[in-house]
Order: sequence, then structure tokens, then C-alpha cells
Amino acid sequence: MSLLNDWYIACAASELKRKPKAVRMFSNGYVLWRDQAGNAHACLDRCAHRNAPLSKGHVEKNCIVCPYHGWQYGSDGHCEKIPSLAEGRSIPSQAKVRSINVCEQDGYVWICPGENPSPKPREFPHCDEKGWTTFRMKTRFASDVESCLENFLDCPHTATVHRGWFRNPDPREMDAIVRKRRDSVEVEFENEPTSNSIISRLFYPKNCTLQHIDRFIMPNISRVDYRFDERHHFIITSQATPVDDLITDVYTVISFCYGNIGWLVRLVFEPMSRHIIQQDVRIMKLQGDNLRRFGGPDYAHVETDLIALHMQSMRRRVERVLELNDESTEKRIRIRF
Ligand code: FES
Ligand SMILES: [Fe+2]
Repeated sequence: MSLLNDWYIACAASELKRKPKAVRMFSNGYVLWRDQAGNAHACLDRCAHRNAPLSKGHVEKNCIVCPYHGWQYGSDGHCEKIPSLAEGRSIPSQAKVRSINVCEQDGYVWICPGENPSPKPREFPHCDEKGWTTFRMKTRFASDVESCLENFLDCPHTATVHRGWFRNPDPREMDAIVRKRRDSVEVEFENEPTSNSIISRLFYPKNCTLQHIDRFIMPNISRVDYRFDERHHFIITSQATPVDDLITDVYTVISFCYGNIGWLVRLVFEPMSRHIIQQDVRIMKLQGDNLRRFGGPDYAHVETDLIALHMQSMRRRVERVLELNDESTEKRIRIRF
């Protein structure tokens, strides 16, 4: 296992046309393009000849063409044509670039930067499903993947960073049940009191009980469920793509059902979600700047940081090419926010 062997969103499927598209991920450059049949391909964005960026070239038939001397590469990364070679001369075996596994799912183009890809990307729950309303956001954060995911799954900050919008500080305590599984951590909040924030006043249906579950899913997904009943359910799923050590592109899919008025709820909910995520962008930038200034993290954890330590230890294991720990645990923690 390695973090590189998982699937990461490179761009929205609609953004990728015939024209080569440069993508940065794990501090590396990749280029994506579509062949004549519309299939997506990817390889390292570095020509084997003199290392010019292929993303500045063009696509001819099914090959990507380097902008410098016009070498043409097929989807498997092998060079199929070198314009300067005389008739009958063969193409040397080093004339190839590393091709990268690509797939399309849920309206995104995903790439797997590693050599041994996991079977397929995880699906976004209820994405574009009948009876559900879906909208998407792409947000760039000046911070690392773990800090971003921790932020999306952290409730206490919502009463400060999103004060009034999402939550207000509330002295009432509740139980958080933290369930650690092999490749995920789930937190369920018991008897969560209703907040008097704008979001809850607008969107919490009356006389319903809230079931709130936050999940971290290896290696780079957060999922938050607010379920009231089978007709009122919000799911916010974010996939974090590491651009480099301190920049992360987050692809968020919000799918919800809300009786027959999902479309109406979206009119208010979508701009509000964009506003709230920008509040996170600002706090993550401040945190990221400070991490850079002080040369890395030096964190004091408390038990109400419910997910971070589990997430870090799972990701460290995979980074060190170790198997994930099969042990499941469950812990109850008193919390308020
Ligand atoms: S650098 Fe690409 S063809 Fe020469
Ligand atoms: Fe937040």
C-alpha cells in the first residue's frame, strides 16, 4: 500500500477536452488529454527528449505531441513518431513517458499516481441520484490534506469560525461515539441539541430528530451526514487532492433530499455553503502560514479532537507501506460546541 496507489480527482470531466490539461498533484506534474473517441489519458508532463512540458503541446489523432521537437506519444506513453528521424530509423526504447492510470466517475476525472492502483475511486453517495439534489464545489486551500480533512470533520470550530451561520457556542454537553474501523473513523453525536444558527433555523425540519455522523474515510475523504428522516437528509462529501505539501484542492459534493422542494432549498443552501467554505479557507490559510513560519506542526491534542489522531496514524501506516490495523474500537467522549 501507498498513498499514491489511491485515486485522486484531477479535474471535472467537463473541464477536460482534447486540449492537453496540466495538473499538479503530490508535487508532480501530470498532463491529461482525450483521444478521438473521447477517452481520457494521462502521463507525466515531461517529454522524454528534452523534458519540455507536454501540456503545452497539442493532441493529434490519439497522440499527445510535444511543443518542442514534435515527438508524439500514444496513450501507453510510448513515443510513436520522432519527426527528425530519417525514413527507416527506429524509435529508441527510452523514448517513452510514464503513463498514468485514469478513470472517470461521478463527473470527475481521477488519476492514480502510483503503479498499483486500488480497484476504483470511492463513489460520492447519492450523487445526481433521482430524488436528490446535488451541487459541487472546488476549493483550493493553502494547507495540507490532513489539516483540511480535520477541519471538515471538526465540530468545535464551527461555533467560532462559522459563528451565527452554522452554530453558536452552546454550553449543553452531548456524547460523541467515536468508532474506529480498519480504514475509516466515524463519530456519531447523541442527542445533539438544535442550534439557533441561520442554517438550523432555515433547514432543520420541525419535530424531527437529528442524526449527525462525521466520517473520515482513507485516505482523503470526509463525509458528514445530517439525517432527519428518509425525506430530509444532507450529505457533504469532500475529496482532498494534494497539489503539494501545503496546497490542497478540495472537491466537495453536496447531495441532499428535502421532500419536494430540494431545488428551492438549493437556491439558498448553495450560496450559503460557498460562503461557509470560504470562512474555512481563511482560517486554514492562517494556520498554514503559521505552520510555514514555525516550520511544521507542534500540536497539543485534547480528547475532543475526535478524529485527527486516528486519521494521522492510518495515513502514517500507509505512507510507511504498512497494512492498516484491522482492530475496531469504540469510545464515548463528552463534548460541547
Ligand atoms: S523536448 Fe519534447 S520533443 Fe524535444
Ligand atoms: Fe468549517
